[in-house]
Amino acid sequence: MPTYTFTVNGKQVSVDAPADLPLLWALRDKLGIRGPKYGCGINVCKACTSHLDGKAVNPCVVPVEEADGREVTTIEGLADGDRLHPVQQAWIEQDVAQCGYCQPGQIMAAVALLGRTLDPSDADIDAIENVCRCGTYFRIREAIKKAAELMRKAG
Ligand code: FES
Ligand code: FES
Repeated sequence: MPTYTFTVNGKQVSVDAPADLPLLWALRDKLGIRGPKYGCGINVCKACTSHLDGKAVNPCVVPVEEADGREVTTIEGLADGDRLHPVQQAWIEQDVAQCGYCQPGQIMAAVALLGRTLDPSDADIDAIENVCRCGTYFRIREAIKKAAELMRKAG
């Protein structure tokens, strides 16, 4: 079986896996990184949203071979020690989560959006396709705006 070596949340990891094993399986089952959630497995629900080289991807449909030599970031890699990422901070301030299942993916999608613009419009936020079966969309929008403000202030 081939070995793939890549970085997850700043640490180099190697996994032995078939080339077409979904990256989500490698993260959750081989590496024990369970922040990215499994919902649909077909790139629809976005519960698994993580970053590959800083861009939001859905690792349920990314083969592990595509991660080889690249940088993967999951929700576990956002905080800096005890210091939360501003998006996580805003999420707490706006009390966004209900059941929580979709929230790691929502946060990773929000971080990717704010990496592109610190002044996201409602349309930019609505373009995030992550599904929340608890319907927390209004609070997600407020939290993204709050996080953008925190990040603009931090410069
Ligand atoms: S598990 Fe639904 S998009 Fe990945
Ligand atoms: S908080 Fe329950 S699915 Fe989004």
